[in-house]
Amino acid sequence: MANKNDLEGLQIPEHIAIILDGNGRWAKKRMMPRNYGHVQGSKNVERICRAAYNMGVKYLTVYAFSTENWSRPEDEVETIMKLLNNYLKDCIKLTTKNNMKVRVIGNISRLDESMQKRIRELEEISASNTGLNLQVALNYGSRDEILRAMKRMMVDYDKKAISLDEIDETLFSEYLDTKDIPDPDLLIRTSGEQRLSNYLLWQMAYTEFYFTNVLWPDFSEKDLEDAVRYYNSKERRFGGLTNG
Ligand code: IPE
Ligand code: IPE
Ligand code: MG
Repeated sequence: MANKNDLEGLQIPEHIAIILDGNGRWAKKRMMPRNYGHVQGSKNVERICRAAYNMGVKYLTVYAFSTENWSRPEDEVETIMKLLNNYLKDCIKLTTKNNMKVRVIGNISRLDESMQKRIRELEEISASNTGLNLQVALNYGSRDEILRAMKRMMVDYDKKAISLDEIDETLFSEYLDTKDIPDPDLLIRTSGEQRLSNYLLWQMAYTEFYFTNVLWPDFSEKDLEDAVRYYNSKERRFGGLTNG
């Protein structure tokens, strides 16, 4: 558990988004197959969820599989899907115990039927939990999400359920997969890459970005604390002026 004193006086971001990257390189460094990195990486998700919650984070959104990740070799995609399926299965058992509320964001219609069923079950079972809100981005791509939102909006417009004048940022946000979830305050990307890779483009308009060279399977509670300290060193201006 985080030593509360270490973080005393610090503002804890309400919502942290993470691009968990570097599983493959982590394995390569150990002369192991990439899939071994995914196994270790998936184990780290629960550890970081717990650490974030203990710190006081309310929303955590993790990028598990992108719409572009299908272009990887078939056996790697298969391993990642198996790990995600197991993760979701464990979550079903765990959510009641740890009071976590889980939502999957992304286009789940491309996933196999048993996985979709598991996702629906998990979301249903955990819907009324009041602890950490965990969003798992699975077959997620921000451009895809925005297009799906726009199509649903056009259907409602066609049905005259909404009018052109009503369309504003708030209404549009309600068509996104992240409906009702506040925008991330802090983005963490591991493994040294400094790009968004199609993650939460709309939602991260004013998010603070923290990049670290640590590879995801090694990312620890202490690294999370470092990210929160970095966040506290920033003055968020949202287009306004500095305070002093
Ligand atoms: C992140 O690790 C996990 C997924 C994208 C599913 P990578 O698999 O991208 O690892 P690197 O970037 O090749 O090291
Ligand atoms: C982003 O990582 C997607 C996930 C972490 C799931 P990638 O490793 O796929 O991103 P690129 O290809 O380096 O941009
Ligand atoms: Mg990567």
